[in-house]
Amino acid sequence: MKKRIYVGLTALLVIFLGVGITIWTNYYSIVADVRETFINVDATDAYVYGEVLFETRGCVFCHTLSEAGSMGIVGPVLDGIGTRSDINHIRESIVNPNALIATNCGNQMCEPDIMPQFGDVLDEAQVEALVVYLVAQ
Ligand code: HEC
Repeated sequence: MKKRIYVGLTALLVIFLGVGITIWTNYYSIVADVRETFINVDATDAYVYGEVLFETRGCVFCHTLSEAGSMGIVGPVLDGIGTRSDINHIRESIVNPNALIATNCGNQMCEPDIMPQFGDVLDEAQVEALVVYLVAQ
């Protein structure tokens, strides 16, 4: 009897977490859309666009990257990512993070299901801009 309650509670928790992350990711992307409209960024310069997106899309909360002045400690440090990872690895890590779990994590968490699956909320040009920006780091 008790066991059943725990199983039920755990299932509920997993569902709430899943729904919560989905809502948050979508809500955050609407806020980001609005901010990007106000910033009026030049989307034709991929590097500059990527730099803006790295901030507006919340990458800064989880990742440390000197160029962006960010000090997130959830995901791996992205300094030097362009020299240690190829372009396809970087793209896949953004579009479908669970497909490729980073290995150079130091004290950070390199677990699946932490980084949002940005392939669901970013369009192709946005992904490419982030890739161009990160390859140069
Ligand atoms: C909620 C925290 C979180 C957010 C927000 C986040 N990431 Fe991540 N990121 C992680 C974690 C944790 C990992 C390690 C697990 C993995 O590889 O999926 C990771 C891994 C990566 C990697 C692979 C690094 C390597 O060394 O292989 C890249 C590239 C990356 N993130 C880029 C981004 C970009 C770009 C954004 C914003 C669009 C972003 N992340 C937003 C947590 C986050």
